[in-house]
Amino acid sequence: MLLNDQLDEWDRSSFFHPSTHLAQHARGESPNRIVTGGKGVFIEDRNGTRLLDAFAGLYCVNVGYGRTEIADAISKQAHELAYYHSYVGTGTEASITCAKMVIDRAPDTMSKVYFGQSGSDANETNVKLVWYYNNVLGRPAKKKIISRWRGYHGSGLMTGSLTGLSLFHNQFDLPLPQVKHTLAPYYFRREDRSMTEAQFSAHCAAELEAMILTEGPDTVAAFIAEPMLGTGGIVPPPAGYWAAIQPVLKKYDILLIADEVVTGFGRLGTMFGSTHFGMTPDIITIAKGLTSAYAPLSGSIISDKVFKVLEQGTDTFGPIGHGWTYSAHPIGAAAGVANLKLIDDLGLVAAAGAQGAYLNASLKAALADHPLVGDVRGEGMLAAVEFVQDKDDRVFFDPAQKVGPMISAEVAKLGVIARAMPQGDILGFAPPLCITRAEIDTVVAATIAAVNTVAKTL
Ligand SMILES: Cc1ncc(COP(=O)(O)O)c(C=O)c1O
Repeated sequence: MLLNDQLDEWDRSSFFHPSTHLAQHARGESPNRIVTGGKGVFIEDRNGTRLLDAFAGLYCVNVGYGRTEIADAISKQAHELAYYHSYVGTGTEASITCAKMVIDRAPDTMSKVYFGQSGSDANETNVKLVWYYNNVLGRPAKKKIISRWRGYHGSGLMTGSLTGLSLFHNQFDLPLPQVKHTLAPYYFRREDRSMTEAQFSAHCAAELEAMILTEGPDTVAAFIAEPMLGTGGIVPPPAGYWAAIQPVLKKYDILLIADEVVTGFGRLGTMFGSTHFGMTPDIITIAKGLTSAYAPLSGSIISDKVFKVLEQGTDTFGPIGHGWTYSAHPIGAAAGVANLKLIDDLGLVAAAGAQGAYLNASLKAALADHPLVGDVRGEGMLAAVEFVQDKDDRVFFDPAQKVGPMISAEVAKLGVIARAMPQGDILGFAPPLCITRAEIDTVVAATIAAVNTVAKTL
């Protein structure tokens, strides 16, 4: 084991961290946590500090830390066959089994899964397939993708464009011109506060339709959305949202890509968020919960309708010119197979529904009336508390005050990790699906204490 101070020095001198204030980190002004172990819902750092991880890493360690079933499956695969590619129809037992398990769990309209490594590359694949689809159908102008402000779809060139958060665009010359953003289905932040949820949903659908008509329906290929906003604030859709949106897409022959990187495989108490909210997507993006992040693996689940056109395309143009060296990597696939089996064996989808309801009810009961709290919301094992300067008039804090990050730092001092979401003063919760009620009580108690501590300083 290296000395602590050596690791600290190497970290600051050599490691380019994602989503980090680079200058502050290099100067040693920000804390760097060096994580050494994890068990259940807890992680441990090099100083022996144990933290209850109420965000499951980046909402991905759904089965919890330290699962030997998955570690053993990875080890076995690495010993037997660490790698072989999946080009030109080649497969491994792990990749084929994983594909079958994904399709068996997906909505009935889904037909095939293409495997990648990350949520970002899966969404890059999705956009390419949508473009290919429209070219095969002889609609070369139908290429624009509509996303939503506050949607999160990755941080590549196209996927960073699809992401509707300014931090991911600024200074990167994004978004690309093929991407348009429509209104976020964020009821708490609606402009016209007299609107009911149903009215606001109808308003979102009307805004979408107006955008399609302005751009020209023949130029709009797809609409991409998380069933429920994640990184943009953890916001369940307002009542009737998907029932209002989907007919608009159908009317103009626009494909629906459901980005289920967070909601796939149980987080909402259902196997997929699409089914949870009555969506019928043409493509579903999966990652995170597919392996519970024990190894990188993502996927694009393609509907029968779209796949038939892709097949037709290869009959005309030859093999599809799309693939990564690590598509369907056997180690990721072995992790996926073991993880999906574990989710079934432990009944984690149902557990997420039951304990998630308890988490949401407990946070509401504890914090909804707090003067600093404007909104407590969530669904399944996803929850958020949004802080405001003035509760009655819904006045938000100046972002420079960093109220959300202050509360998150205070919660961590009490041994709990909850995430300060990147845009707005929002504390997010997305614990492993195996969290117990007693552990949820710990999370809620730490949150109340942290909010009270920060409230005194404002
Ligand atoms: C909904 C959604 N889509 C895509 C991504 C991107 O996934 P990755 O970070 O694996 O590229 C994320 C990551 O948080 C996500 O939440």
